[in-house]
Amino acid sequence: MWPDHRIQKLLGIELPIIQAPMAGAQRAELAIAVANAGGLGSLPCAMLSPEQLREQVAQFRSAAPGRSLNLNFFCHRTPLPDPAREAQWKQRLAAYYREFGVDPDAPVTSASRAPFDNRFCDLVEQLRPEVLSFHFGLPDAPLLDRVRACGAKILSSATTVAEARWLAARGCDAVIAQGAEAGGHRGMFLTDDIATQIGTFALLPQIVDAVRVPVIASGGIGDARGIVAAFALGASAVQLGTAYLLCPETRLAPLYRAALLRAIAADVEAEAELKVDLNVDFKAESKVKANANANANAETNADTNSESRTASFNATNESTQPASSHRSVVAAVAAPGVAPGVAPVDAPIDGTIDPLRAASFINVSPEQSIEVSDQMSSNPSAADATALTNLFSGRPARGLINRLMREQGPMNPAVPAFPQAAAALAGLRAKAEAAGDDGFMSLWAGQAVAMARSVSAAELTRQLATDALAHLGRFVR
Ligand SMILES: Cc1cc2nc3c(=O)[nH]c(=O)nc-3n(C[C@H](O)[C@H](O)[C@H](O)COP(=O)(O)O)c2cc1C
Repeated sequence: MWPDHRIQKLLGIELPIIQAPMAGAQRAELAIAVANAGGLGSLPCAMLSPEQLREQVAQFRSAAPGRSLNLNFFCHRTPLPDPAREAQWKQRLAAYYREFGVDPDAPVTSASRAPFDNRFCDLVEQLRPEVLSFHFGLPDAPLLDRVRACGAKILSSATTVAEARWLAARGCDAVIAQGAEAGGHRGMFLTDDIATQIGTFALLPQIVDAVRVPVIASGGIGDARGIVAAFALGASAVQLGTAYLLCPETRLAPLYRAALLRAIAADVEAEAELKVDLNVDFKAESKVKANANANANAETNADTNSESRTASFNATNESTQPASSHRSVVAAVAAPGVAPGVAPVDAPIDGTIDPLRAASFINVSPEQSIEVSDQMSSNPSAADATALTNLFSGRPARGLINRLMREQGPMNPAVPAFPQAAAALAGLRAKAEAAGDDGFMSLWAGQAVAMARSVSAAELTRQLATDALAHLGRFVR
């Protein structure tokens, strides 16, 4: 049994699991799958036109009748244009423009990020979502009053205790505690100092102590152990983003999906190398030869221009090996077109997994190998494959480290204000992407990226809940 039911009651859901809204990475399909599995499905709206928003909501309503829907909006203030700063930033990018043959002054056609305003509020009044969540604070009081009058429950992200108090004082029904591990944009709004951004383990209990409303834990939660930890720290629910990224219901650019798979494969490779270094005995009886071909991703055709080397990898799963290696293998092998695996329901909470069960859920033929691109060898493991960067939008966000981040950041004070910074990169991103190069695209992902699994979002949601309940049961016994 869940230790706290406040969020289920408040939001009208069966499971205390919220699928994080992920602008640019998903549409209604993901929200539908999670909602039908009993969690809260979320639709990111900041980059949608009113017509697209209507369509997405209609799609959700017909595929998930009677289920609660969360519409998510940004609450930033649109900055005044600053041509001098923009010109200076473009100057800094000039060598890249030349390299890719991009006209820096060509009009930008990509979707931008719009704040919640009257136009969005009119739509909310018509569409009547059960839940509205905000990032970067809250809209002004008159707009917030209109949202409340529609009957929608209101959530927003806090990245500090002060932000949580601020949100609760303005009538938020629940606060999302967003730890620094989280993928995507920091929801920070009372400060722009990233030194104030702390991890979920430190942030969550302090927010729980500071506000009376229920608190939703977010950031770095990748499996049932993270969910149990969040409840132990006082959370009433969890919100997961990165864990869902590889689900087939997301809408990732092929290069983005490939980069995630490479990051995970690099984790597996690093662990294998470590075992070799330590001269680990590979003759264990229950040997599992896992395969993964992270780059042979039929859907992506990624990396056509990068030199790949093949690293043959024999994952020897002894009962004392940490669970993380198995999960990584599962995620890496389960590229589209390859049978996905699911971590065993009864994986013990101490992080060990029975090797024979591991073999059954890995579900791969024994003689295959992992291909790991040289690109990732500078990232020793998936856990440190990400960084906070302001380069892509003008606000700090966590993503996989790529060329632009390595060469210009990851944080750079010269970047134009949010969301205008995106315009200077639009042409570069498009040209590079067309050439199979992910060096100029935002690859949002959190620090628990190695735990992402290529299973259906419904299956993942149900599995997370089942495993968390099993672990919680062991604690109370
Ligand atoms: C790809 C991606 C896009 C995101 N976009 C949004 C967004 O549009 N709105 C929002 O409130 N949060 C967004 N987030 C942040 C999530 O709400 C949440 O804080 C985060 O995913 C939790 O950490 P995790 O990724 O470690 O699970 C995004 C996160 C990711 C990974």
